[in-house]
Amino acid sequence: MRDQFGRSIEYLRISVTDRCNFRCQYCMPLEGLPWLPKADILRYEEIADIVAQLAPLGLRRLRITGGEPTIRPELPRLVRLLRDIPGIEDIALSTNGVKLPQMAGALADAGLHRVNISADSLRPERVAAIARRDLGFALHTAALAAEQAGLGPIKVNVVVMRGINDDELGDFAALTREHPWHVRFIELMPVGELRDLTWEHVVPSDEILARLSAVDALLPDATPVQGNGPAAYYRYAGAPGSVGVITPMTHTYCEKCNRVRLTADGRLRTCLFGEHEVPLRDALRRGEPLAPLFTRALAEKPREHALLQLRVGGLRALSEVGG
Ligand code: 5AD
Ligand code: SF4
Repeated sequence: MRDQFGRSIEYLRISVTDRCNFRCQYCMPLEGLPWLPKADILRYEEIADIVAQLAPLGLRRLRITGGEPTIRPELPRLVRLLRDIPGIEDIALSTNGVKLPQMAGALADAGLHRVNISADSLRPERVAAIARRDLGFALHTAALAAEQAGLGPIKVNVVVMRGINDDELGDFAALTREHPWHVRFIELMPVGELRDLTWEHVVPSDEILARLSAVDALLPDATPVQGNGPAAYYRYAGAPGSVGVITPMTHTYCEKCNRVRLTADGRLRTCLFGEHEVPLRDALRRGEPLAPLFTRALAEKPREHALLQLRVGGLRALSEVGG
């Protein structure tokens, strides 16, 4: 699959629910969002059907996202359906980690390869303050459960917010000296209707790297971590893990974009931001072939997003489209 600019599209992010058990300040309003009605949400068999039609066109790698994917019942059943599709080489999961201690084994047995865990603090009270729910999340518990189940390499996603958790940059980076974990610092994107977190809370990745390098030299990573994404990786000498930065605010990486997204209600979204999407669900339910719709979506995939120029995203929250 190639888009109109010749970019090869091999990676699909699949949102399985728009709901979440957290209410992270930068993502969801406390009262939640207008949730999708159940009838609008793709059944697992329908998701597998879409992936099976995309795989012959060159789709190779999948990531299951949300909302929070682990709160949808029977998630391992979806993993099993996806694993059995010829051509699919890699199935990853993005999760807030709350349910990993209880689910990691079943997900690994079903054929999941690896997980990314979101963690914005290592301090329990602060985790609860940022997520605005106290569900007892602790990164170590979640990551060790995933590691034990064989769901590595483990990646940890930290959304950095000035004055809120940027005093923990060093603590997070230090984890990579002890564990083969890949801690990625993500620049906060002030998207949606959230007014509390603004551009003042964005910490540019150059500053993040400078602050970490002041403690000890960080070297560009010679052995890049397995993955699909736009992170740039660094390493402390001799550390088993690595430190990465994801820079949606200060650098664009659209020219290397390799992905499309499937929303929980079956829209194929070709860019995280903007309004470019092609509805697949109703055609699928009518039994029509989807290939012409994929072709149209790829032909319309924009060159780059306008987040920075317009300071608008066309999104209520990243949970809407799976981050
Ligand atoms: N800015 C940056 N990252 C965000 N995420 C969700 N909303 C935002 C935002 N406004 C992150 C989550 C998770 C990933 C899927 O997207 O923390 O790590
Ligand atoms: Fe849930 Fe992830 Fe959004 Fe937090 S960032 S509210 S964990 S979907």
